[in-house]
Amino acid sequence: MISYNMAKLLIFSIFFIIRTVLSEDLPTNYEHFIGDEIKSGLSADQSYFILNGKNITIFSGAFHYFRVHPNYWRDRLRKMRAAGLNTVETYVPWNLHEPENGVFDFGSGGSDFEQFLDVERFIKTAQEEDLFVLLRPGPYICAEWEFGGLPAWLLDNANIKLRQSDPIYLKFVFRYFKELFSIIAPLQFTNGGPIIAMQVENEYGNTWNHDPDYLRTLAQVFRSNGITTPLYTSDPMLSVGDQGALPGELLITANFNMNVTENLDKLHSFQVDKPTMAMEFWSGWFDHITENHTANLVPIQRYETYYEEILAYPSSVNIYMFVGGTNWGFMNGAGDVTYEMNNSGLQPSVTSYDYDGPITEQGQISEKFNATKKLLAKYNTVKTKLPEISETPAAVTFDDIKIEQQILLKDIIDSHPNKIKSNNVIPMEAIGQNFGYIVYRKTNLNLNAHAILKITGYVRDHVLVLVDGKLMNPALTSVDDLNKFGYWRLVDSAITLPNQALTNVTLDLIVENNSRTNFGILNQFNQLKGLTEDVYIDDNIIQNWELIPLDFKKSWNNALTGWHEVKNRELTPALYKVTFTVSELRDTYINVQEWQKGIVIINNFVLGRIFAVGPQQTLYLPAGLLKEGENEIIIFEHFSAPEYVKFSDKHIWGYGSSIKEL
Ligand SMILES: *[C@@H]1O[C@H](CO)[C@@H](O)[C@H](O)[C@H]1NC(C)=O
Ligand SMILES: *[C@@H]1O[C@H](CO)[C@@H](O)[C@H](O)[C@H]1NC(C)=O
Ligand SMILES: *[C@@H]1O[C@H](CO)[C@@H](O)[C@H](O)[C@H]1NC(C)=O
Ligand SMILES: *[C@@H]1O[C@H](CO)[C@@H](O)[C@H](O)[C@H]1NC(C)=O
Ligand SMILES: *[C@@H]1O[C@H](CO)[C@@H](O)[C@H](O)[C@H]1NC(C)=O
Ligand SMILES: *[C@@H]1O[C@H](CO)[C@@H](O)[C@H](O)[C@H]1NC(C)=O
Ligand SMILES: *[C@@H]1O[C@H](CO)[C@@H](O)[C@H](O)[C@H]1NC(C)=O
Repeated sequence: MISYNMAKLLIFSIFFIIRTVLSEDLPTNYEHFIGDEIKSGLSADQSYFILNGKNITIFSGAFHYFRVHPNYWRDRLRKMRAAGLNTVETYVPWNLHEPENGVFDFGSGGSDFEQFLDVERFIKTAQEEDLFVLLRPGPYICAEWEFGGLPAWLLDNANIKLRQSDPIYLKFVFRYFKELFSIIAPLQFTNGGPIIAMQVENEYGNTWNHDPDYLRTLAQVFRSNGITTPLYTSDPMLSVGDQGALPGELLITANFNMNVTENLDKLHSFQVDKPTMAMEFWSGWFDHITENHTANLVPIQRYETYYEEILAYPSSVNIYMFVGGTNWGFMNGAGDVTYEMNNSGLQPSVTSYDYDGPITEQGQISEKFNATKKLLAKYNTVKTKLPEISETPAAVTFDDIKIEQQILLKDIIDSHPNKIKSNNVIPMEAIGQNFGYIVYRKTNLNLNAHAILKITGYVRDHVLVLVDGKLMNPALTSVDDLNKFGYWRLVDSAITLPNQALTNVTLDLIVENNSRTNFGILNQFNQLKGLTEDVYIDDNIIQNWELIPLDFKKSWNNALTGWHEVKNRELTPALYKVTFTVSELRDTYINVQEWQKGIVIINNFVLGRIFAVGPQQTLYLPAGLLKEGENEIIIFEHFSAPEYVKFSDKHIWGYGSSIKEL
């Protein structure tokens, strides 16, 4: 006979040994859920999720492949799995995958974004890294992404009604989804891939469109293209409830960052016999221009408390964002602070989409990563094998580079081969331009002294006025300048031209498109860019313009000629170029604190925007956009340029040095 204590010790030891053996030999996520064979995909037909016959709670994180250099996809996915997540969620941006009407790019289509667009490879990499996938293909995605992911060329159709049962709009959706789903369908779980569920549209309730047939039609298009996974909608519950949902037809999920129980209870009330899932639990936030970056951060305690409340509810949850990223080039979205959709309330987002989540824009893990890992270890009862992760190397600072080469924007306009004649000013879309800047040039103009240039309607979104190449706008020195001539907030704005009479001058109106709104109804007229109404000088309408698109495409940037030494860097729109040699490929940041407004181009790819009104003062430059040997940076500055291109090894937030107020 053995004593009670000995028995206890023995049992404890056996338990301990089994546990040790098991933890060394835990199954992977896929081994656990697949077992011997795949019999069935995700089921949401009861109050909890079942995958292949086993209960599953979805612990997901958002990671937008198009916002992260593909060299880093695997690293970020492995980190997600190491935190204990079993799923990764991504949107799919239509405007990148169909950059021109009928021209597709899924990784080899030759567009400027080509390298970011191999969505099939991303999804397969997620599976290799032991994660399931939730896919949100839109067509509208919001995502604080230009035009909510819709292609700008849709606006070539004057009568199109976006995000509604409109045959013109739906015709384009059908064609795109056919292409996309031919790649996606084979990647579904029941076909041996990682995709377990897909979302239809996005926060449709925020449109207040009351068009359930639109959602129904979309769901049918998913089905008719071979999508068999469960489909769901997602909306903020406390503001729009089930407005944007199809209760009883598609699973409803919730988006929020606080009031956890209220949100999940409300969600539950719409579908008592279904699982609950937070499709977007906002881990941090993004910045619009002029905002205080610090005030947008979400404190770790708040994140931890609310994440735990979701897990304890219990609910499935997708952390939005888990991985930070970048709104490359011109792809930042915009808000509309007035909801009037008249352009005065446009509120562009910045280039960084760091989001203050568990993994930063540069790939470093944050306190929120550790908190997530700790909570998932506590709440996930399914124990599986998690990978080791390696630390992301810190970013480096390169030496300052003196700028030796310049081209004045005026010279680029003068020599531009593609001048389109137009009687009146017309928006960019009307000439089939989808990106960047547009120039309206008027030649052989005679001006009275103190002539007044008046632009009726709104400038969409920022105009520089040149008279014979001389800049008429004042420098950008305060946030309040955004309320004055030259920016998007004023309707029928005017500026006084030179104080002496001039004959036979050339007038250039250079209009920058600062991005379209990404939220809500997306009224099409108010999303046009450039100038849309008449231009007057001293009450005489100006006609017979030349329109010159400046879209800053890679091939165009690469072909720029006429570089000369820097002659004038004060108040003159110009491009500046430096070259530098890189021996070890490392991440860095370009420090734009001394610049005012414009864009940065790295090896012909538009990296992002400069805007001294902040808060972003550094542009993340991943090693993958550099090459060993010679590299080239071009900066387009609207106003005045400093003497050097400078770098940083971290983000800097605040105002640029030209902004006087603080
Ligand atoms: C799955 O979860 C439900 C609800 O918690 C529970 O009733 C059921 O027993 C679970 N099934 C298995 C096989 O664990
Ligand atoms: C949500 O939470 C905030 C902060 O705790 C609180 O001020 C607000 O009243 C809550 N809203 C609702 C609808 O419960
Ligand atoms: C920015 O916000 C932080 C946090 O709310 C605050 O402490 C700081 O004073 C603000 N800075 C400015 C310049 O308003
Ligand atoms: C645009 O919206 C703003 C904010 O609601 C309003 O003050 C302004 O009058 C509107 N402008 C026009 C031209 O409708
Ligand atoms: C996260 O946890 C790891 C391991 O405990 C630790 O080394 C690291 O410093 C933590 N990171 C942060 C940002 O708290
Ligand atoms: C305006 O810029 C956005 C990117 O911010 C781009 O998607 C859109 O197509 C541009 N529109 C035009 C007409 O150039
Ligand atoms: C006006 O200026 C252009 C170029 O600057 C020149 O070619 C043209 O001859 C001038 N016309 C007159 C009438 O002076």
